[in-house]
Amino acid sequence: MGVLGLACASTWSIQRVAIFVVLGLVLNLGVVCNGGKTSTFVRQINRSLDMPLDSDVFKIPPGYNAPQQVHITQGDRHGKAVIVSWVTVDEPGSSTVLYWSTNGKQKKAEGKVKTYKFYNYTSGYIHHTTIKKLKFNTKYYYVVGVDHSERQFWFMTPPEVGPDVPYTFGLIGDLGQTFDSNKTLTHYELNPLKGETILFVGDLSYADDYPNHDNVRWDTWGRFTERSAAYQPWIWTAGNHEIDCAPEIGETKSFKPYTHRYHVPHKASGSTAPFWYSIKRASSYVIVLASYSAYGKYTPQYVWLEQELSKVNRSETPWLIVLMHSPWYNSYNYHYMEGESMRVMFEPWFVQYKVDVVFSGHVHAYERSERISNVAYNITNGNCIPVKDQFAPVYITIGDGGNLEGLATSMTEPQPEYSAYREASFGHAIFDIKNRSHAYFSWHRNQDGYAVEADSMVFLNRYFHPLDDSTSA
Ligand SMILES: [Fe+2]
Repeated sequence: MGVLGLACASTWSIQRVAIFVVLGLVLNLGVVCNGGKTSTFVRQINRSLDMPLDSDVFKIPPGYNAPQQVHITQGDRHGKAVIVSWVTVDEPGSSTVLYWSTNGKQKKAEGKVKTYKFYNYTSGYIHHTTIKKLKFNTKYYYVVGVDHSERQFWFMTPPEVGPDVPYTFGLIGDLGQTFDSNKTLTHYELNPLKGETILFVGDLSYADDYPNHDNVRWDTWGRFTERSAAYQPWIWTAGNHEIDCAPEIGETKSFKPYTHRYHVPHKASGSTAPFWYSIKRASSYVIVLASYSAYGKYTPQYVWLEQELSKVNRSETPWLIVLMHSPWYNSYNYHYMEGESMRVMFEPWFVQYKVDVVFSGHVHAYERSERISNVAYNITNGNCIPVKDQFAPVYITIGDGGNLEGLATSMTEPQPEYSAYREASFGHAIFDIKNRSHAYFSWHRNQDGYAVEADSMVFLNRYFHPLDDSTSA
């Protein structure tokens, strides 16, 4: 081969290298479609297995009648009360909670105990005790099981509600109790951003995937999540796996295990049922909606939400966050359009009241939307395509907790314009509020190190700083 041949060969090599570099970059960054980015991240897609009953995460605490499945949630409107819940199995025992702050006097609160039956299962003694009149921004220690085997935990109350209070929420959905669920929770716990409260977007234990909805799996889930939920509030949303309606085995009362085990402060926000309610926490106003309760016009949820949105004072709580289980904007071939009827009912209000962000679960993957709305349609005008709308929320699907049903890997193609980023991986997210104008959102996939962000977005508040915060060019 002559000099020319060598020159040609090296030019071809350079071209080949360049092609591979460009291809590599495209594969790494995701394929750009009509809409945003579809990540091509490669992960194991075998079905997740539930952890066996003898796993250490399900271990029953030692001692006679020792409290288990301890969990807390906000117990009032502003964050000065906490509902403490736990289960005892040998006998009802005491529903007393002892609590104190550092250098503070020990106090006690009394609660109630109840049980339920589900087909051939009888629950343990489920205790719910609300601790009230706490000081803001204070570390409290608490003890349950005061009659027999005491167990001690602690939590931090949130800062007083106010417009510039920084606060960090974790986001988990569709968690279940597989080995992947355990990874998700561990990644959340070890995330250096340190979530202070979890916004849980529904589908807790997946017990209903077992024959006769084996409620033992509600107990194991309670023990598995205790390591986080006993120390920081989990804000509950009901998903379809909480319905537990099984007429074939005589179980016709919907949400029976869920409502017995997980209490929420719905009455404090004027709600008539525990499936839709709101809380204020730090600089945020969190509205929880019920995808599986009636929401048509004149229904209790509809009437409540109509009044509720008009009550939000953004000068007090700039960040308006909505949680619901079934997403309105989803571009996976799973549960596609299931949220559509609720979107038709409520979306005009979300635009009118400038909701910042809507978090959903249900689809076992991650997706973040652009700020879009689809409220112009009136049956005859044909305007039925979502359009960019700076007054609309960003919709985030975070149903990727890792449950036994596996990942949602099939997506609609091409990627719709409303979809900014989508990836079928398990993970969790953090919504880190900095002040009244800025919040930082990051999504963390389980395969990465604890600090790695696979997707992120700087949120500009829709009320105080409503500039375009889109991440696409
Ligand atoms: Fe679901």
